[in-house]
Amino acid sequence: MIGNGDITAPQDALRMFEETACDAVIIGRGALGNPWIFQNTAHFLKTGELLPDPTITTRMQTAKRHFDLAMKLKGAELAMLQMRKQLAWYMKGLPGAAKRRSEINSCKTAEEVLSLLT
Ligand SMILES: Cc1cc2nc3c(=O)[nH]c(=O)nc-3n(C[C@H](O)[C@H](O)[C@H](O)COP(=O)(O)O)c2cc1C
Repeated sequence: MIGNGDITAPQDALRMFEETACDAVIIGRGALGNPWIFQNTAHFLKTGELLPDPTITTRMQTAKRHFDLAMKLKGAELAMLQMRKQLAWYMKGLPGAAKRRSEINSCKTAEEVLSLLT
């Protein structure tokens, strides 16, 4: 049995295991802009220790890599459109995120987008 729904932090996964006695959990929306949630959750379940949040630099480097891979897969034009939401999730909660999001949404080229992911 797999537990699923509203796991957005490692502690949610532990609660799901404890309350439902499930064999595994799925994390969906909680991974958007936060791919670290998988290793952090695995680490927490194993050791009880919460790892620190990724730094802004790590978040932006990961967003850039994600964007780069999307461009290789889909081409720059489509990747730029499809990645808007993803990039917004990577920036969620950071200072100035709303302004940066709107700047990204008005970019015309991939280079412009990349230059804003700092
Ligand atoms: C980006 C994304 C992709 C998903 N793709 C699938 C899928 O291919 N098949 C599926 O059955 N559910 C899919 N789901 C649904 C999730 O497995 C999950 O049931 C749902 O998001 C609720 O869990 P959450 O609260 O952790 O998001 C997807 C969810 C997200 C956010």
